[in-house]
Amino acid sequence: MARTYRSYDWNSYRMVYSDPHRDLEPLEKEIAVVDGALDVLHEAGILPHTDYDHAKMLAHRQAVRELFDIPWTAITPRMQRLLYAINAIVQPENMIAAGVFCGNTFISNAGAGVGPGACYTARQLIGVEIRPDEAERAEGNVRRIDPTGIARVIAEDAVETVTNFSELINLLYLDADGAGKKGKGVYLDIVEAGYDKMPPGSVVLAHNSVNLAERLKHYLEFVRDPAYFRASVNVIFDIEGLEVSVK
Ligand SMILES: C[S@@+](CC[C@H](N)C(=O)[O-])C[C@H]1O[C@@H](n2cnc3c(N)ncnc32)[C@H](O)[C@@H]1O
Repeated sequence: MARTYRSYDWNSYRMVYSDPHRDLEPLEKEIAVVDGALDVLHEAGILPHTDYDHAKMLAHRQAVRELFDIPWTAITPRMQRLLYAINAIVQPENMIAAGVFCGNTFISNAGAGVGPGACYTARQLIGVEIRPDEAERAEGNVRRIDPTGIARVIAEDAVETVTNFSELINLLYLDADGAGKKGKGVYLDIVEAGYDKMPPGSVVLAHNSVNLAERLKHYLEFVRDPAYFRASVNVIFDIEGLEVSVK
């Protein structure tokens, strides 16, 4: 069933893409807004609970601030916290993030499993970026936070990565903007490629569920169809949005 969580200020809460570390609001407010989203995800049966370690989240944020080369990003502090929290709660053994650009989106997810924010032991956390130059930058960024190699970035088409992945996928994060006219329409190709490898309870996160909703129309119809996903919530607390779906 499709649901929505909307903060009253979603449209006025704005970041500067070239200045991702700037504080946009008091920390208590950021935590309260994200807690509101986690509560709805819990009520919808997507998350088993809403608890995550706030100090580890801030340690993760600090490491990204110090170690990552980020030319721009549309991941707001609220979104960074939500992605971290969802991964900290779901604790996916295997996570694939598609379309990671410089790696900031990837580490927002993977930071719950590696680096100073780690709160569980993951098996494989894979970021996929089709542009080799950006994949190289993202991999360099990730290596500075995670010397273990559990988190890594590869240069590939995410449809291929997901198609060829030989293990279960517990969490899939979608942010690829596709080639040519396809754009974010590629989300549907990626989730269809991975669907049969996703056990019940696995989670799919799709960035841009608000500002690119029209482009994601077919994807959103798919994840909001109870024949395919048990529940789906559109989290609207910034202008980008995140659709969170559970199989
Ligand atoms: C818009 S960026 C994501 C940026 C992210 N939302 C942020 O704010 O940091 C999308 C990335 O997806 C990559 N991409 C496009 N199609 C892809 C595909 N099929 N597989 C993997 N990456 C892809 C692009 O090269 C681009 O770097």
